[in-house]
Amino acid sequence: MGTFRLLPTTTRARLALAGTITLMYIIGSTVYMRYGSSAFPVLETRPDDLGHPETTTSTTGTEQSSSDGVAGVETSRVLLVSSFFLLNTSKIPQKDYDMWLHNYLGTVETDIYFYTTPDQADRVKSFRPEGMNITIDTTFSSIFEVPPLKDKVDAYTLNRKKDRAKPKHSIESYAVLNSKPFFLTNAVKASEAKGLKYNYAFWNDAMSFHHEHEFRQWPSTSRLDELWTTGSNLTGTDPADLLFIPSWDLPHKSMYLWYEGEGPIDHKFNEGSFFGGPPHAVDWLARTFYTYHDAWLDRGIFVGKDQMIFNALSFLFAPRISTVWYNDPAAPARAALNRTPSVPWPLFRDPDADWYEPSALGQCDSEWFYYRFFLANQREREAMRATWIAKAKRWRWWGWWRPRDTTPCELTRLLPMMDTLQRKYGQGWHPSHSLQIPDTIQWTLPDSNNGTHTN
Ligand SMILES: *[C@@H]1O[C@H](CO)[C@@H](O)[C@H](O)[C@H]1NC(C)=O
Ligand SMILES: *[C@@H]1O[C@H](CO)[C@@H](O)[C@H](O)[C@H]1NC(C)=O
Ligand SMILES: *[C@@H]1O[C@H](CO)[C@@H](O)[C@H](O)[C@H]1NC(C)=O
Ligand SMILES: *[C@@H]1O[C@H](CO)[C@@H](O)[C@H](O)[C@H]1NC(C)=O
Repeated sequence: MGTFRLLPTTTRARLALAGTITLMYIIGSTVYMRYGSSAFPVLETRPDDLGHPETTTSTTGTEQSSSDGVAGVETSRVLLVSSFFLLNTSKIPQKDYDMWLHNYLGTVETDIYFYTTPDQADRVKSFRPEGMNITIDTTFSSIFEVPPLKDKVDAYTLNRKKDRAKPKHSIESYAVLNSKPFFLTNAVKASEAKGLKYNYAFWNDAMSFHHEHEFRQWPSTSRLDELWTTGSNLTGTDPADLLFIPSWDLPHKSMYLWYEGEGPIDHKFNEGSFFGGPPHAVDWLARTFYTYHDAWLDRGIFVGKDQMIFNALSFLFAPRISTVWYNDPAAPARAALNRTPSVPWPLFRDPDADWYEPSALGQCDSEWFYYRFFLANQREREAMRATWIAKAKRWRWWGWWRPRDTTPCELTRLLPMMDTLQRKYGQGWHPSHSLQIPDTIQWTLPDSNNGTHTN
């Protein structure tokens, strides 16, 4: 009993304590969910501060009942590119990997190009059903064989000393992250060499589909065509050069002063789990990514996270990038829902921070992966809405008294990265960059062409 000395000794006092704690929990969680129940005035009156005509925002801001998703009208082709290089430091049980691979390879019907080590090839292949295309590329039997990272073990070992979270990360984990842009463009080229041409290619983290879902013809090619037309109009960039990278939050206001010599931007700004565009754009991305990666690495600046480098590229080349930003405080779709910020501890909130609002756009389940919903066809979006609402309505043994969000997930607009950044850093903010990006990079692949198995 010694350890419980701080607890009251009589039954009545214990019951009173338990009751008080329960009451505090109920009040606390209700306040958390409900903070401020009326409309947030700034949002209400704030126009679409990008100043675009309604017609351009409405194509991406409301549901369309166009040909979207109707079988047989898809004319463009999409390639999804992923990799799986098992790190010996990974603590994730194999059954979790298996479930995630199943939820991706077993359901998404889009052509997939998959890099892995020879020992994992059969395992990966076993998750892909008959009749769905997959190319498994085992050219690289370890991650430092990937051409842009070749001979960089020593440089990465030195670079690791600059990592703020050093003990957690191995140099292999950096290499896995920084191999994505190469894999993406290389998969497009390898497919072209076999006569398979794609209109769009996207990197998709192989382990990003944790739960069951309804995404099948994903991303929807007609949706992509529509977004690239809109994106090109909004950015003034040729569709062939336009990239799509989802955003989460914008870096701090002080980043107004950032310049390329400072190196990558460490913030949850761009999401590295998914990005891409037409073949020309993803090739430019790889050349640019490794030009900056190498320059910063040479100067001893930490480059161990693809996301940090993407953040910097978004600052340097904003006009070439379009994005979807779930947390966008000025999104018309969000204002239409009359949502209020529900910050657990409003007093401690940084007024400058672009707060993260769990249900800013309704019941969209995991907000980080909102881009999936955004890129899906209408039928699949409807299916996901129904799934998420059913999930939100399920009886809970704990927390049943709390309000739950059963507003259908809203579709928001596509944003030009440039306008998003200028909104935060001012109209006077303009990107500038000084490194020369080579027109081509001759990456030397390993000699043996013993690497691809196609389904
Ligand atoms: C993991 O791999 C690295 C290099 O590939 C090696 O140095 C290290 O000892 C390995 N760790 C374990 C726990 O096997
Ligand atoms: C698989 O790829 C071939 C071309 O290589 C294509 O004709 C076929 O439609 C693709 N299958 C699926 C399910 O997309
Ligand atoms: C975008 O579309 C509008 C309306 O269709 C048009 O007036 C404008 O010139 C377009 N802008 C660009 C850069 O293509
Ligand atoms: C190709 O790979 C297979 C199995 O991974 C191996 O048995 C074979 O010897 C390899 N061939 C060459 C030419 O490297």
